[in-house]
Amino acid sequence: MSTQDELKQQVAKAALEYIDDYDMVLGIGTGSTVNCLIDLLPSVKNRIDSVVSSSEASTERLKQLGFHVKELNNCGTLSLYIDGADEVDSHNRLIKGGGGALTREKIIANASERFVCIVDTSKQVDILGAFPLPVEVIPMARSFVGRELAKLGGQPTFREDFVTDNGNWILDVNNLKIIDPKGLETKINNIPGVVTNGLFAHRGADLTLVASASGVVVQD
Ligand code: 5RP
Repeated sequence: MSTQDELKQQVAKAALEYIDDYDMVLGIGTGSTVNCLIDLLPSVKNRIDSVVSSSEASTERLKQLGFHVKELNNCGTLSLYIDGADEVDSHNRLIKGGGGALTREKIIANASERFVCIVDTSKQVDILGAFPLPVEVIPMARSFVGRELAKLGGQPTFREDFVTDNGNWILDVNNLKIIDPKGLETKINNIPGVVTNGLFAHRGADLTLVASASGVVVQD
């Protein structure tokens, strides 16, 4: 039996194959699975010109390994973005933001030609929504947005003692029935005060690498 940490290592290693150009500007996500990938990146350093990072935590780790971290504003379209997820369905639609980096992650995913998601089997679901949906909010709008989310059938909880890299707060929303992920993503993003929500349905992954005890499978 593989432990979850071993599966994260395996899927991170499998993702290295997708870094297949030379002098690539690579988009890098956030989280424990991505940390495994970051730690392996020195082995393909000759293929990476620089990186664009989705969080201060990933930036710090990348810099410690000697990578040149660029501002997205100074790059064009990225050829590849690699990131983890909290849930993935069979259409590569995701819930992200468990680590609170959802807004920058969504920006970089949309600014990239290809988004490769890396997960272990524990993240695979038939229907998104068992994982509480993270919603980043402007602090003064927290209560209003919470009431609007409750009207949509959700039960929002304030993520205590957490401020995003953008200086905002997170509401984690339980009990949402996500039968129309794109529709719900749009609806929540249209609430004034919402910066973005953790549904990645309009721009899901192009493919997901899923690690299980029997190996890594490509879901596209
Ligand atoms: C951070 C994220 C992460 O990708 C997600 O939480 C998965 O993290 P981990 O690999 O640690 O399970 O969306 O905002």
